[in-house]
Amino acid sequence: MKCVRCRARAEVQLRAHNAAYCRPCFLFVFRRQVERAIDSERMFTQGERLLVAVSGGKDSLALWDVLADLGYDTTGLYVGLGIGVYSDVSHAKVVAFAERRGLPVRVVTLEDEGGGLAVPTVAGLTRRVPCSACGTMKRHWFDTAAVEGGFDVLVTGHNLDDEAARLLGNVLRWQSDHLARQRPVLPATHPRFVRKVKPLFLTSEYETAVYAFMCGIDYIVEECPNAAGATQLLYKDLLNRLEAASPGSKLAFVKEFQRTGQPAFAAAPRESPNDCERCGMPAYGTLCAYCRLVEEVGRKAAARAGAPA
Ligand code: AMP
Ligand code: FES
Ligand code: ZN
Repeated sequence: MKCVRCRARAEVQLRAHNAAYCRPCFLFVFRRQVERAIDSERMFTQGERLLVAVSGGKDSLALWDVLADLGYDTTGLYVGLGIGVYSDVSHAKVVAFAERRGLPVRVVTLEDEGGGLAVPTVAGLTRRVPCSACGTMKRHWFDTAAVEGGFDVLVTGHNLDDEAARLLGNVLRWQSDHLARQRPVLPATHPRFVRKVKPLFLTSEYETAVYAFMCGIDYIVEECPNAAGATQLLYKDLLNRLEAASPGSKLAFVKEFQRTGQPAFAAAPRESPNDCERCGMPAYGTLCAYCRLVEEVGRKAAARAGAPA
């Protein structure tokens, strides 16, 4: 198999793109794909301050690597979720990467913010699926860190596989509000929000894994222990089977949704949010999702402490 750009021996085959590349050409094409997503979706410009949410996994670290190479002003943000060894190892990978590249990183540890609210504690007390509690908490701390740090943009490493699985989940339940908000760029719609962008939304997990491997990026390979059995993984598995039979399906699903479906959902009138009475973030009701969660944790912890042994 030959590289479609330079005819050297190919190292990577990308069936979705009907292409194969040697190592230098793959690295070039990968970076160009990210650059094109940034420019065509007008995600951000040189001179803006980017806060890059990095989990220690391959996607966010590969993205941070590319953004730094492209000369953007980046700071990493790691949120310590308190998920045992998984969190310890991912934290160490983020810090090591930042040191190696000489990039600044901020760390928010949930156990230190607001009284011991690590993901396992919150999930246990509220009997929620850990991933759902985790999502609410991560979003809150991403927004808070971005606004308080004076950043222009919050960047996440969501890739094509994440976006396709999320789209499938939203379509299966026809969640029109979620479909209206599923975009690679979310403008800052509230003073406590900054713009949120996903430069890897058309880049597959396989491509980021190859990029990270070729660049020697040391990332956490293990999935979060709470991911086992999560519906998101079931959707990813279904989409992978579809992709194997019909290469390019994931890309078409996400790309065409952004072109044709999403604008239709976004055009529907929507309720505008209030300000959360506690933290000032957007809220449907008096409290935002995060403050409601914190309140529920407080109530349940107090009930447990008061309960007879
Ligand atoms: P996930 O929700 O785990 O699929 O991750 C999606 C994106 O969210 C990642 O690519 C990161 O940009 C960001 N992210 C996930 N977990 C963390 C974390 N603990 N700290 C900072 N960013 C994270
Ligand atoms: Fe949030 Fe696994 S990363 S529950
Ligand atoms: Zn709030």
